[in-house]
Amino acid sequence: MSADQGAETRAASLRSGAHVPPEEAAIGCRNVTKTFGSITAVDDVELGIADGEWVSIVGPNGAGKTTLLNILNGFYTPDAGSDVYLNGEEVSGRPEHYRARHGLGRTFQGLELFESEDVLENVMTTRAVAERPNVLSAMLYYGTGRKTEAENMRFVEEILDYLELWEYRHTTVSTLPLGVQRRVDLARSLALEPDVLLLDEAMSGLTFDEKYDMIRFLTDLHEEEGLTLVMIEHDLEVVTAVSERMIVMQKGGVIARGPPEAVTDDPEVARVYTGVE
Ligand SMILES: Nc1ncnc2c1ncn2[C@@H]1O[C@H](COP(=O)(O)OP(=O)(O)OP(=O)(O)O)[C@@H](O)[C@H]1O
Ligand SMILES: [Mg+2]
Repeated sequence: MSADQGAETRAASLRSGAHVPPEEAAIGCRNVTKTFGSITAVDDVELGIADGEWVSIVGPNGAGKTTLLNILNGFYTPDAGSDVYLNGEEVSGRPEHYRARHGLGRTFQGLELFESEDVLENVMTTRAVAERPNVLSAMLYYGTGRKTEAENMRFVEEILDYLELWEYRHTTVSTLPLGVQRRVDLARSLALEPDVLLLDEAMSGLTFDEKYDMIRFLTDLHEEEGLTLVMIEHDLEVVTAVSERMIVMQKGGVIARGPPEAVTDDPEVARVYTGVE
């Protein structure tokens, strides 16, 4: 094979389909499209993330990354004909709380914490939603002193300890530095004991030290707890350092996927980033 043919084969492999069949993936989707009026935010995407993988999704602003995560976790209903799979089960018609109770956790680009509540209340409320899929009744439930509340509390305390949030447990969220708030969001995403975590720019706006801490916690969750991680991240240095595979989105579609070094060396990927980031 000539050098040119080798390069063509490598480039073609970056453009091929899902890593594992979506139906057998920890989290996967097929034919996923989402339009908002005249905008096609996600355009016929197929994904297959294997159990225990750490995958990053990158792409310029407006590429459709958050919209795709919102479809995977059931926050958005995609256009007809789109299929989503979670741990081998088709969950296309299942609501967000069903997916959350069946192993899918997520963090938010914009955090969406209860800012006037303390750290413990934020995580406890999410935990209580597992039994009552409605925030209001979850809050009431939290106040009623049921037997399972003690068990929930013990579990939540373990999470806070694991993420080194114990000292902040009674601190109002809005007063905490962004790095700690992002960790509270991560704690909330762990409250329902997920197997798969979707992370939407969990390191955005963080200082170097805060990023380092976040990477340390995610590495522990991946290596010690075996969590499958799907992470939207703009920092290519972080992406290359931590992820086993990388998926590049542009204009709603996937334009490349594969090992980070191969993907970042790809001329098409370089072109997408030139002048954009
Ligand atoms: N709720 C919505 N209503 C209308 N348009 C939307 C909505 N959500 C997203 N869009 C549009 O869909 C496209 C993709 O947006 P999305 O937020 O998924 O991009 P992104 O890749 O996450 O970008 P960023 O890196 O800036 O977070 C954009 O054109 C955006 O304006
Ligand atoms: Mg986004």
